[in-house]
Amino acid sequence: MISSENLKSIDELDVIDMVMQNTCEIAVLSPTATYQFMLRFVYYCRSYSFLVARLAAVIGSSSLFRDPFAPFSHHAERSMDVAASVLKAGIEEFRDPKIRVSHRTMSYGLLDRLAEYAGLSEMETQRIAQSQNWFHVILQKVEEGYSANPQNLSSMVKAMGFHVGAETVGARESAIIHRVIFSQQKDKELGQFLRQHKLTFDGGQISPNYWVAVHGTEYSIGVEADHAEDAVKALNQVVQYTQATESQVIAWADEGFSHFNQTQLVFFQSLYTELQSKLQLRNTLTVMK
Ligand SMILES: [Fe+2]
Ligand SMILES: [Fe+2]
Repeated sequence: MISSENLKSIDELDVIDMVMQNTCEIAVLSPTATYQFMLRFVYYCRSYSFLVARLAAVIGSSSLFRDPFAPFSHHAERSMDVAASVLKAGIEEFRDPKIRVSHRTMSYGLLDRLAEYAGLSEMETQRIAQSQNWFHVILQKVEEGYSANPQNLSSMVKAMGFHVGAETVGARESAIIHRVIFSQQKDKELGQFLRQHKLTFDGGQISPNYWVAVHGTEYSIGVEADHAEDAVKALNQVVQYTQATESQVIAWADEGFSHFNQTQLVFFQSLYTELQSKLQLRNTLTVMK
């Protein structure tokens, strides 16, 4: 039985946690930096939100997953059962069961509030949103990570490994962001502002930071833990429904996991550099005044 501990890329998560934490700490140094951090993060998550469903569709369309114990070989295909374990992570992205809008809409609501808190105009948000080159490269890496060919088992398992990485790190990522950006500023101006400016959707009123909290906080296990469990279940279904050995599936999946770790590291490191140079420029301009 494969568990996430069998994938050696899991050993890199402490380093990733540290980089994520450093980036969050620089993001709280000014309201504009907080907005800029969250804007890039929301757009980064945007890619994951639909690529999970695309991978599930690719797996579902494959004819490579078959139950060797099925009474009739023509009825043995089990692709949709494997696909369902991946799709599990994508369902709330389309409609949160409680709030009844997509996670993306919830994330844009949070950005609205952070822009208002920073006092940014439409034009200023547009200027900040102008993508940097490094950001396009990262989105390309996410797209590659989730790419798979339904006729090619190794490509599908590598993408499943990327997905295991995304969901495993996702829980730690939301806990760190929640703690540094929101909990530690609960009694400061940002916390007060967010409490006074809730968001209203079909499913009711929520705190603007609910989008982060629903994925996990430092106190609670959010949806990511469940998603990660199902992502690993998909790997075990590959062993069950194909001729691939457990060690082969682990090796392929670990390749994908490692690709995810690299992508995540470069995203947070590049964002750190972007925020740091912006804050330095601001400090230089203040000194010159
Ligand atoms: Fe989400
Ligand atoms: Fe997830």
